[in-house]
Amino acid sequence: MTARPDARSAAWEALRGVAAGKGDAEPLLRKLLAGSDLPPVERRLAFELTLGTLRKRGCLDYGLERYLTRPLRELHPDLRELLRLGAYQLLELDRVPAYAAVDRTVELARNFSTTRKAAGLVNAILRRLSEGRPEPPDREADPVGHLTVTGSHPRWLVKRWLERYGFDETARLCAVDNEPPETFVFLNPFRATGEDFLKIVPGAEAVEGFPGCYRLARGADLTSRWAYAQGKVYAADPATALAAMALDPRPGEIILDACSAPGGKLFHLHRLAGLGLKTVALDISPRRCAVLAENINRLGLPAAAVVGNLKLPPFAGRSFDKILLDAPCSNTGELRRRVEARWRRRPEDIKALARLQLDLLTSASRLVKSGGLLAYSTCSLEPEENEGVVGRFLGGRGDFRRVPAAAGLDDDLRGRFGDAGGDIRALPHRTGTDGAFVALVRRVR
Ligand SMILES: C[S@@+](CC[C@H](N)C(=O)[O-])C[C@H]1O[C@@H](n2cnc3c(N)ncnc32)[C@H](O)[C@@H]1O
Repeated sequence: MTARPDARSAAWEALRGVAAGKGDAEPLLRKLLAGSDLPPVERRLAFELTLGTLRKRGCLDYGLERYLTRPLRELHPDLRELLRLGAYQLLELDRVPAYAAVDRTVELARNFSTTRKAAGLVNAILRRLSEGRPEPPDREADPVGHLTVTGSHPRWLVKRWLERYGFDETARLCAVDNEPPETFVFLNPFRATGEDFLKIVPGAEAVEGFPGCYRLARGADLTSRWAYAQGKVYAADPATALAAMALDPRPGEIILDACSAPGGKLFHLHRLAGLGLKTVALDISPRRCAVLAENINRLGLPAAAVVGNLKLPPFAGRSFDKILLDAPCSNTGELRRRVEARWRRRPEDIKALARLQLDLLTSASRLVKSGGLLAYSTCSLEPEENEGVVGRFLGGRGDFRRVPAAAGLDDDLRGRFGDAGGDIRALPHRTGTDGAFVALVRRVR
């Protein structure tokens, strides 16, 4: 990065970082901007350029490849990301005049060693693109191609969703993933009251059906505020509360949060049951467990964080009243928040994840007491990772029985999130929340 970065050079550096596998865009950019004196307006532009370029990659690449003589994947990654950044400004940002978008991108190319020689190419391609947006594939003749471009999602995912939801719903789902998501927080009842909170964050709106949950005004950045540092709130989408709600935790019970880090669902369990509930928070990743321990401490939860593998659990069999298994998944219900995830995932990941999820569910089941409940949840929309896993788990065994997870929700929430089979299912384009799936099973012997 240059000594005094501007929004565009910072965005480009973050995009190069993502392409090089250095991490996710948002934390990378936060780190890059941490010590800089970039004014707030430029800071906001840097985020918009980085996240927007990632979200709209599908339609940007389509536009660029119309004028390139080689596929984008054959270009140097730095050049590829720079062309995408320039194309985003041309095609998606009304407030940046085309000449400025082209000139600033060419200037960036000239000032960087890996792209210097390609400055002429950048100029030529972006100028052609500035003359007009190429027409996407025809909606009737090639609906998958049409939505891949206009909805900016990988082809394999569009194909899956089209078969499941049809054209209009898939278009809406893609559109939701391309919007900057709203920020929600849950009040920590152990550290703050509602009045307290509204004084700290004016303009926050209570979210219907989720007591203690507030929608923040657009652009409000809570993480930098003392309310967050002091554990008065936890930032999370309303849908993240559904698994804990279905499990109906009670004081006096002992619950295992089996894949716990960073602790969002653990917080919901205690928020609902109070401090009289005992929880053990297990996670395999020492790095994520450190964040979990920090959250437990900040939020004042009476939980024990344990680093360990659920497949080889450091607990005796049948020792928990209830278990919450929030399994690792493809995250296809959270693509609006995880902007790079759609491009990282591969179709074969779904099968591999489903295998892992079934193994984890089987291991977790050994730890539930007789009569106890096990909630299985993901933020995936894919049936193989959701009802597919639960169906395979239950197939042929008589010691566990399915219980309708939505039955524990109030009438309004059951209407919004209960599906025909009794499971809980949140779909971003229908429920206005992140995607989520929750199924409940009970040990009957
Ligand atoms: C979806 S995340 C959990 C999110 C968390 N429940 C929350 O609400 O904040 C899945 C977690 O499972 C953990 N994990 C993956 N395999 C595991 C295993 N074999 N045993 C325990 N934890 C595992 C990952 O490290 C990751 O933190």
